[in-house]
Amino acid sequence: MWDAVKQAAESGRDRSILGLFAEDESRAESFSVSALDLLFDYSKTQIDAATRDVLIDLAAAADVEARRDAMFAGAKINDTEGRAVLHTALRNLDGDAVLVDDTDVMPDVLDTLARMETVADEVRASGFTDVVNIGIGGSDLGPAMAYLALSPYRDGPRCHFVSNVDAADITDTLRGCDPEKTLFIVASKTFTTIETMTNARTARAWLQDHGVSTDGRFIALSSNAEAAAEWGIPSERVLGFADWVGGRYSMWGPIGLSLMIAIGPVGFRAFLRGGHAMDRHFRAAALPENMPVLLALVGIWHNQGLGHATRAVLPYDNRLSRLPAYLQQLEMESNGKSVAMDGAPLPVHSGPVVWGEPGTNGQHAFYQLIHQGTRVVPCEFMVAAECHEPDLRHHHDLLIANCLAQSEALMRGRSLDEARAIMESKGLSGDELERQARHRVFPGNRPSTTLMMPKLTPEMLGQIIALYEHRVFVEGVILGINSFDQWGVELGKELATSLGPVVSGDAPADGKDGSTQALLGYVKRHS
Ligand code: F6P
Repeated sequence: MWDAVKQAAESGRDRSILGLFAEDESRAESFSVSALDLLFDYSKTQIDAATRDVLIDLAAAADVEARRDAMFAGAKINDTEGRAVLHTALRNLDGDAVLVDDTDVMPDVLDTLARMETVADEVRASGFTDVVNIGIGGSDLGPAMAYLALSPYRDGPRCHFVSNVDAADITDTLRGCDPEKTLFIVASKTFTTIETMTNARTARAWLQDHGVSTDGRFIALSSNAEAAAEWGIPSERVLGFADWVGGRYSMWGPIGLSLMIAIGPVGFRAFLRGGHAMDRHFRAAALPENMPVLLALVGIWHNQGLGHATRAVLPYDNRLSRLPAYLQQLEMESNGKSVAMDGAPLPVHSGPVVWGEPGTNGQHAFYQLIHQGTRVVPCEFMVAAECHEPDLRHHHDLLIANCLAQSEALMRGRSLDEARAIMESKGLSGDELERQARHRVFPGNRPSTTLMMPKLTPEMLGQIIALYEHRVFVEGVILGINSFDQWGVELGKELATSLGPVVSGDAPADGKDGSTQALLGYVKRHS
């Protein structure tokens, strides 16, 4: 099935995007899709109708719809861990039954949501000024990203997010906190993650050092209530979730508690509603009109088809500044794998390197390479029509203008003749004109997509995050990957555990390679 994609790529690689617009006046409509409140425009790519057919056939051949239905039905599609994949149940506000091993999980899900709401309301009314979420990866990135994204909706205590085992993180965070008025949330699905447990112990010691009781100052969010209890957090202060919620898909449940505390239960439900609405779209829309499917297919076209190894995510929204980091985990931990479900090597590359920064900041940093570098970086722009600062609407107009200008510039480029004319108008001539003109050429014909939203509300954020989750799912199905395990993080963890005593001088470095031994020697000499 990849042969057709490769053939389409051969003929489509140098296709002129501007030429496609010239051939088809309605290209912007025919190569964009609307779902709920979102518009996804992929017209500024080399995809034509025949290419799109090839890509849709690819999705159909991979049985995307059947796999999707299996996921929603609670089948154990995470088959290296023998687990269902049901983060969608956490936002299933209709409460329709969702069966895992013939048991409806919804009563538990709704009960936990109600408990979260009680806890959040209590915290919001309790006089705590600061809430510190201690977690890493999926137990940090989602709530941290959403806390920033939804800052206009915050009316609870301040939240902080400590993730790094680097003591700098917790030290700098606690510096501004009053021990009497600080609540800690230990967020860890497994309750064994070394970074989180180290930070949690440091937090406990910080309270004790200030003579403040730890009672009532810790909440655990975990699937491992036993370990939380052993650590000293009683069951009534533990909000649990099942093993069918993957870490990087977990912000819809207890892991989202800090967000709920910040924006209130009503706002959090709006976030869930947005995610649930996207689920309904994903389940109902035919492949050619299915937004997550199209996002995935455009990504596959650029990565596995044309060979562009990275994708830049460029939200023109300062409050989405942590979205690229969030998507890095979501996409790269899910689809950065070399073997298919059956263990066979993938016939094509795995998911792309995802990176980015908000616009307009990135424009003054790395866009130079995006416009004139020798490699093509497909860009994913994102912007809202409305802002939260109506009195400063002129800022937002500039933001939108910049966003649209970048995708236009990438597509249009600037020819050598145009550059020469500019240099001539500046009074240059001869060799110097030619030399200077060459530096001002933009190759153009560089692909980008744009996701438009009305306004970044809790509901909208829910739609966007669910959109990306499903995009990752579709991409994983087409690649034949299990998107829901993450064995690739294990080796480094194991080696770090064995190196710990070596670094602290309690074990010899014997058996380590020469480079590691030399680096350890440097640490010894300088610490
Ligand atoms: O190291 C990877 C990982 O397992 C992620 O998948 C997960 O989100 C993160 O660590 C944190 O895990 P936990 O929530 O169990 O502390």
